Amino acid sequence: MTAPATFRPTGPLTGRIRVPGDKSISHRALMLSALAVGRSRISGLLEGEDVLATARAMTAMGATIKRRDEGEWIVDGVGVGGLLQPLTALDLGNSGTSARLLMGLIAGHPITATLVGDASLSRRPMRRLTEPLGLMGAEFSGDRLPLTMRGLCPAVPLTYRLPVASAQVKSAVLLAGLNTPGVTRVEEPVATRDHTERMLAGFGADVRVEQVAGVRSIAVTGEPELSPRSLTVPGDLSSAAFLLVAALLVPGSDLIIEGVGVNPTRGGLLTVLRQMGADLETLDERVVGGELVADLRVRHSALLGVDVDPALAPLMIDEFPILFVAAALATGVTRTTGLGELRVKESDRLATMAAALTAVGARVEERPDGLIIEGTGGDPLPGGGPVATDLDHRVAMSMAVAGLVSRDDVSVDNMAPVATSFPGFVECLTTATPRSSLTVRAK
Ligand code: S3P
Repeated sequence: MTAPATFRPTGPLTGRIRVPGDKSISHRALMLSALAVGRSRISGLLEGEDVLATARAMTAMGATIKRRDEGEWIVDGVGVGGLLQPLTALDLGNSGTSARLLMGLIAGHPITATLVGDASLSRRPMRRLTEPLGLMGAEFSGDRLPLTMRGLCPAVPLTYRLPVASAQVKSAVLLAGLNTPGVTRVEEPVATRDHTERMLAGFGADVRVEQVAGVRSIAVTGEPELSPRSLTVPGDLSSAAFLLVAALLVPGSDLIIEGVGVNPTRGGLLTVLRQMGADLETLDERVVGGELVADLRVRHSALLGVDVDPALAPLMIDEFPILFVAAALATGVTRTTGLGELRVKESDRLATMAAALTAVGARVEERPDGLIIEGTGGDPLPGGGPVATDLDHRVAMSMAVAGLVSRDDVSVDNMAPVATSFPGFVECLTTATPRSSLTVRAK
């Protein structure tokens, strides 16, 4: 099903809103609860298609996962080493995080599983997983989905230096190390989101993190007994990002987004937006379930173009599509470099966003590893479309925001993928812009 939609200016974003739970943390919460001994409770879980794919996969491998009416999820785990062979292929839809983290989990269990996904997931590179997990003893039918893999038990513990800055690869190796005797270690020359190591420690695993000569090393001791937990998932900063930028760009906006995860390994966008001149406050910082959470207050601001430090890329890897929209409205030029990884996300985000922004009249130059964008100086974009989103939820949401600051309507070819990470996105925009009348047509 595709869901074309049209977006246009709707007035300032005001009031207080919440965004759905963090996608990365939700996947991990389900997986680790499913490996604990006993019953865990998760509130605030993202009920998006990606996370539901993980829930179905863990159920197919023996965990019992149920949603209570109040939105609390109850997970009865099978214990580390207790995963069962799934009877049918695991369908992971659009979700790279499900596919890659599950490959790690399966690698350390004596089971054979087939993983399948949609057209976007089927073109994404998996060699970055099959290589380290193969060194641990797992076998794979190929380097892209659909693929069949066979785990090894006991697998061989590994010390692995990440060749690409990827939290998914780091997490997959650490998860493979869970059911592996001895110590499995991942070294990351560039720090990536650290939810896996935080949550492993929270479930009682022995996880040691050290910094040696600028390299972060994370070591997990295998065969722990994980204890069940009660967890609260914070709001997803990667989802809040669309509303943050919308509020920055739409004159008169003054919006508070409550309960957003602000883990520093995810905070690159906040740094860059502040460098651009954003009026952005972090209020009431607190720790919830081992993660830093805050309310974010954002007011309309005149933004200036910047050269984005490529060292920040891993800390905001999912936020570039919406940053490009902010850049398109800024005064001056924004240059981004070092973004080769964006070419292997749900779509080739450099190409998709360059084409989408060009289609609505922005001035964009696509380079092999980044975009150069000359902003309008705060004037509306011309608008237009339909823009092609290529099954990419973040491109779709970014271009919806572009529609709020365009002279003519912006039409987006397909909003359906938004349900993978931000169900209720359009309703959330509508809540923040009370005078609006946004609609999405499904066909
Ligand atoms: C994620 C890691 C990132 C990110 C993805 C979620 C995770 O991918 O883009 O949306 O939950 O670990 P990479 O590890 O490929 O950078």
